Amino acid sequence: MANIIDGKVISKQIKDELKEQVACLNRDGKEVCLAVIQVGNDPASTVYVGNKKKACEYIGIKSLAYELPEKTTEAELIELIEKLNKDDNVHGILVQLPVPKHINEETIINAISPSKDVDGFHPSSVGALSIGKKGFVSCTPAGIIQLLKRSGIEISGKECVVVGRSNIVGKPMAMLLLRENGTVTVCHSKTKDLKEVCKRADILVVAIGRPKMIDASYVKEGATVIDVGIHRNENGKLCGDVDYESVEPVAGAITPVPGGVGPMTIAMLMNNCVEAVL
Ligand code: GUN
Repeated sequence: MANIIDGKVISKQIKDELKEQVACLNRDGKEVCLAVIQVGNDPASTVYVGNKKKACEYIGIKSLAYELPEKTTEAELIELIEKLNKDDNVHGILVQLPVPKHINEETIINAISPSKDVDGFHPSSVGALSIGKKGFVSCTPAGIIQLLKRSGIEISGKECVVVGRSNIVGKPMAMLLLRENGTVTVCHSKTKDLKEVCKRADILVVAIGRPKMIDASYVKEGATVIDVGIHRNENGKLCGDVDYESVEPVAGAITPVPGGVGPMTIAMLMNNCVEAVL
């Protein structure tokens, strides 16, 4: 029987700590402000953006919502970002991804000032992480480190295996585990003997984007298993990249889907917004 790592409880703890910090800042006459830009009306993005606004409200962060039409040009979007970059009353800027196809995502990420890059996607933030300098860290992997630390799971000296090498999760996850003195292996679609590599892990982070791909045969007895995936099956039920029913009896600790990694992403975004003011 694995310990269930409860992302809802841990993210609430973090949000409550941030709420107190923001109240303190407010008493000193400082307000925290996040600008959230959505281009078009992708339904999933609308839900994510709504959740970000709600979290801001809960913590006491002011949120400015920019809901731009699908046909917005890249130049218009950059103009708005540059205006927000210059606005001293705005501390964080977030452009919800994906942007419509006629807009280049990389150009947009690069346009955000690294000092307001609360998503941690700017090359300057990514570079800072890789050389151990201060900078904003991508929210999902930063949230996973909090899940581990707040559950009392030691990272130092442990075999950490990350399955997936995306810029948003896999790569920054590897850098963060390394920063915590883990021994880190990154696996991907071309990895030979994926099962054997995963079976070495004391801490296995799965962000591969394939429903229930990792079953008990990939997991060492007692390992901590972190599931970043989220998928909806034909019956509308959510599942992760990990086959929870199969892995749970073998793992020492495991994150459920939903209610594991998911809630941590927004909590860490809020954390980055507060850090932007400090
Ligand atoms: N789209 C899906 N996840 C994210 C995220 O963490 N940040 C942004 N900006 N867009 C996203």
